[in-house]
Amino acid sequence: MKNKKVLITGGAGFIGSHVVRLFVNKHPNYDIVNLDKLTYAGNLENLTDVENKINYKFVKGCITDKEFINNLFEQEQFDSVIHLAAESHVDRSITNPLEFVETNVLGTVNLLIAANKIWKDKSDKLFYHISTDEVYGSLGETGLFTETTAYDPRSPYSSAKASSDHFVRAWAHTYDLPIVISNCSNNYGANQFPEKLLPLFINNIKNKKSLPVYGDGKYTRDWLWVNDHAAAIEVIFHKGKHMETYNIGGFNEWTNLDLIKLLCEQMDLKLGREEGTSEKLITYVKDRPGHDKRYAIDATKLEKELGWKPSVTFEEGLAITIDWYLQNEKWMNHVTSGNYQNYYKKQYVE
Ligand code: NAD
Ligand code: DAU
Repeated sequence: MKNKKVLITGGAGFIGSHVVRLFVNKHPNYDIVNLDKLTYAGNLENLTDVENKINYKFVKGCITDKEFINNLFEQEQFDSVIHLAAESHVDRSITNPLEFVETNVLGTVNLLIAANKIWKDKSDKLFYHISTDEVYGSLGETGLFTETTAYDPRSPYSSAKASSDHFVRAWAHTYDLPIVISNCSNNYGANQFPEKLLPLFINNIKNKKSLPVYGDGKYTRDWLWVNDHAAAIEVIFHKGKHMETYNIGGFNEWTNLDLIKLLCEQMDLKLGREEGTSEKLITYVKDRPGHDKRYAIDATKLEKELGWKPSVTFEEGLAITIDWYLQNEKWMNHVTSGNYQNYYKKQYVE
């Protein structure tokens, strides 16, 4: 019997690298093709442990290149697609929105067209789009995003992701493309480019640099360990109902300030610094324009219907994450130097 061939886009990035590793190791009978442009956020060092596996192949390429994508699908005849490739940083979407439309919207549509073209018999095929809870907008003090919450994206990033979700559903309704979408909350863990809150602050604390808190720091996010997101994706890929949406989250809300204080406490302990040392690095800076106040996910459907649950508490996941960054100095030095340096610099923080 022919091996199932799965295309994972954006597999050299933060979440993608964990998804690739999980699929390559857990499913030796699948051929995994990782398609990635290797932007500043993509790094093949994230995958050195699987690069020589027989069921893994890397292809460098851009999802906005229609001809390249069509040829790749013709050539490889993928059975399924797990689509993660995207521009993912909200701050960058504020300064460079067009890139987000190109990659997140046009790139997704190119993949949909190519998949629909080669999938004559659609019965055993799947186009799985990895999306974000930010498509639902911002919550007040109470309430949770469910799968039926109306879309209300408010940043160029979330608008582009919402748009790509709509296109994926349009392909399901119009062309009967078998699809599934999941919308996840904030991920943390190994391999995250240090522009996002946690790896940036871990690195700054280590180097005794200031910790730029946007606005009053009272913004709330729901944090999930990236390995648990990858595990949820693996479950949804195999057991998720086609045409459905699943929310993924940790039931783990933190205001930025509380989270940063916990991080400072854990880092003082790990670095053998006097209690309270790292907290003194907190600096309040100009707020992110249009900063969404609160995100919180109701992941009940995923838990009840597909039996997924986070595997670690937040304190455990955070400790593992801090250890990873402290032990992987070479990775951190690499992605904050050379060609990466321009991307590492903060963009509009005063
Ligand atoms: P990331 O920025 O770390 O990685 C994105 C990857 O996509 C990189 O490897 C990059 O090289 C690749 N890429 C970018 N443009 C490309 C293009 N034009 N062609 C091919 N490859 C391209 O992102 P991430 O944080 O790992 O997010 C992955 C996906 O998960 C995204 O779709 C994002 O919207 C979604 N998501 C992220 C989070 C989070 O907290 N990080 C939460 C929910 C959903
Ligand atoms: O909710 C899911 C989303 O989470 C994903 O779709 C995005 O790809 C991912 O980047 C993330 O978006 P956020 O904007 O929430 O993540 P970020 O790490 O940029 O910021 C987290 C919070 O911390 C947010 O309220 C802004 C704040 N922040 C961030 C940075 C980088 C600061 O206060 N200071 C900072 O320097």
